[in-house]
Amino acid sequence: MARIDLNVKNKGGEKFRIAVIGTGGIAHSHVRSYLTFPNVEIVALADIVPGKAAKFAAEFGLDKARIYESHEALLDAEAGNLDGVSVCTYNCQHAAPTVYALDRGVNVLLEKPFSATMEEAVEMMRAEKRSGKILTVGFQPRFDKNMQMIKRIVDSGELGRVYYIQTGGGRRRGIPAGDNRTSFIRRDTAGIGALADIGCYSLDMVLRAVGYPKPLTVSGFTTDYFGKDPETYQNSRDPQRLADMFGVDDFAGALIRLEGGINLDFRIAWAMNVNTPGDTIILGTKGGLRIPSTDCWNGTTGGPMTVYRQLAGQPVEQTVPLLKDQDGDGTLWQRKIYSFLDAIANDLPAPVPTSEIIINQAIINGITESAALGREVAVTVPEI
Ligand SMILES: NC(=O)c1ccc[n+]([C@@H]2O[C@H](COP(=O)([O-])OP(=O)(O)OC[C@H]3O[C@@H](n4cnc5c(N)ncnc54)[C@H](O)[C@@H]3O)[C@@H](O)[C@H]2O)c1
Repeated sequence: MARIDLNVKNKGGEKFRIAVIGTGGIAHSHVRSYLTFPNVEIVALADIVPGKAAKFAAEFGLDKARIYESHEALLDAEAGNLDGVSVCTYNCQHAAPTVYALDRGVNVLLEKPFSATMEEAVEMMRAEKRSGKILTVGFQPRFDKNMQMIKRIVDSGELGRVYYIQTGGGRRRGIPAGDNRTSFIRRDTAGIGALADIGCYSLDMVLRAVGYPKPLTVSGFTTDYFGKDPETYQNSRDPQRLADMFGVDDFAGALIRLEGGINLDFRIAWAMNVNTPGDTIILGTKGGLRIPSTDCWNGTTGGPMTVYRQLAGQPVEQTVPLLKDQDGDGTLWQRKIYSFLDAIANDLPAPVPTSEIIINQAIINGITESAALGREVAVTVPEI
């Protein structure tokens, strides 16, 4: 992406009228970034918890924002007046507001992961298609220069034909839960745990680099040893309550066969007894790439990457220097928000297209299914 234009305007020099559905944790990052663009107005907010959206409005000084207690109420009243909406609800409430918004002609920036189920992903893509509106998914690591470099290296041909990828990562202890923070660990709100929450980023990093080939089969497993252990929540007021509430995975792994002869070895953790399950490596017939693991997931690589190849019959290693942001590039979050505004103003395709993210989701749901069945499953990606 070219540099961001903080003064970006909508068509006809108008301001962008934006709403936010779900005013929990991540809505803060959205609104903080929107407000750095002088031509964006946050005109409406909704949260199903009474008083939560109003408190959020007060926090940001959004005196004029209209407040609602459901996405339906917000969109019924405001759709004709909106240029876009950020859907910042928990995973199991991604589809309902997104479909409702698209069907009322509103462009959507939906938080990641795409959804909790494939049915919901398909439903959202159908709504996107019939509305002709933008549906983009909030994978901000895509706007990091070092992440983009991974794809540039693969596209350069220096690695030859890619046939094996090892990816994943995770946290030694990092289950996103606390006394007042339970939406990530409940089955009825999150649907899927570490596998979708941070696994979606890890998968996106490598799948995007190799052109998002479709999956053929998945053999996966998930565990919840740490999530179900009260000891994990020793700093909380009621560790047993959180352990009992935990209804998702805290660790997942899989071997995924992709079209084009690529084998993907994947693992992801919210908690584990090791510092990292390893760097990401991409093996090709002419070269290999090592991408240092991160503490998961700050949206960039864990350090300079290394390319391994043969030169005149000898093994050589080249370090790829870390790329730094320049003045005018904005922050990662400003680039994410700008990509949505720019697409709205200039009728551009969705910056993070659902045609790719459905493949990411199919793998995640394939791992869930394979884990439940205890065997390899075939994965098909529906055509929308
Ligand atoms: N891109 C990132 O870096 C990033 C980081 C954290 C979370 N996320 C994603 O953002 C989403 C939300 O995460 P969070 O940490 O903000 O969760 P959260 O639980 O703090 O906030 C979600 C909010 O949505 C509200 N809500 C749920 N359904 C609603 C509906 N139908 N209409 C209106 N409000 C509704 C809830 O009451 C809650 O206040 C998740 O899908 C998560 O994966 C993304």
